[in-house]
Amino acid sequence: MSSVPVVTLSGGTAMPRIGLGTSPMDDAGAERAVSQALEVGYRLIDTAENYRNETGVGRALKGAPRDEVFVTSKFNRRWHSVDGARTAFEASADKLGVDYLDLLLIHWPNPDQDRYVEAWQGLIALREAGLVRAIGTSNFKPAHLQRLIDETGVAPEVNQVQLSPVWGKQAEREFHQQHGIVTEAWSPLGKGTDLLEHPAVRQIAEAHDRAPGQVVLRWETQQDVVPIPKSANRARLEQNLAVFDFDLTDAELQSLAALDGTARAAADSDRSGH
Ligand code: A2P
Repeated sequence: MSSVPVVTLSGGTAMPRIGLGTSPMDDAGAERAVSQALEVGYRLIDTAENYRNETGVGRALKGAPRDEVFVTSKFNRRWHSVDGARTAFEASADKLGVDYLDLLLIHWPNPDQDRYVEAWQGLIALREAGLVRAIGTSNFKPAHLQRLIDETGVAPEVNQVQLSPVWGKQAEREFHQQHGIVTEAWSPLGKGTDLLEHPAVRQIAEAHDRAPGQVVLRWETQQDVVPIPKSANRARLEQNLAVFDFDLTDAELQSLAALDGTARAAADSDRSGH
């Protein structure tokens, strides 16, 4: 089994450079997928309160030593306060059967509620208490991140956003890089679009004798984005992990970047969410 390369987050924690996403799997589906993923070598598992599958993920996690798996969860809008973040952590840790999380994220900024700075203060306290090793956000735009930095002096270690060649998020990636924030990608295969059938992707896949999904995941990993593709299929789980032993050329990177904006609009996190 080949080991997954890691990136060191700004707080010093090592994070695998690819992982398994688990939305929209239920408890049983997540248990199956995570068990298989751990068997084939995944070492980053991503879940959330909102997916309602933390119990299933937790059952599968019993199959691996705790310190060998990087476990991420996220909490919902009702917990956007200092005490709320702590309560949310306890609920997730309990369902997952762990006593610490590797990464805990604010799932959605919910600017209508305007309490994400308090949620962030709660995460900072959890990291100081040693209950979470790293802290971050999900679906935050640069303006939301800037506010966290201005009001607390602490930047997230990770921001997880909807990202693939069709949702390139160039401005976001540049902001993240300036502030030492690792970009993590949900729907990295462009779910709901025809990205994997696009001629540009197909052509590059043929040139490298790789599957289209591998080309897209390599486009992300080669630019230091951490994708969390989900799959319930063992062969595709294996395929998606095998994306560190070939490189795309600059021209290929650019031809995929040119797909930005060709699909329906990405989710807008200035709207309210979970
Ligand atoms: P399956 O579970 O049958 O593998 P995303 O992570 O972008 O949201 O996409 C997940 C979807 O893409 C799932 O429906 C999954 O189906 C499918 N999928 C995962 N890996 C691949 C791949 N390498 N090639 C094609 N489809 C894939």
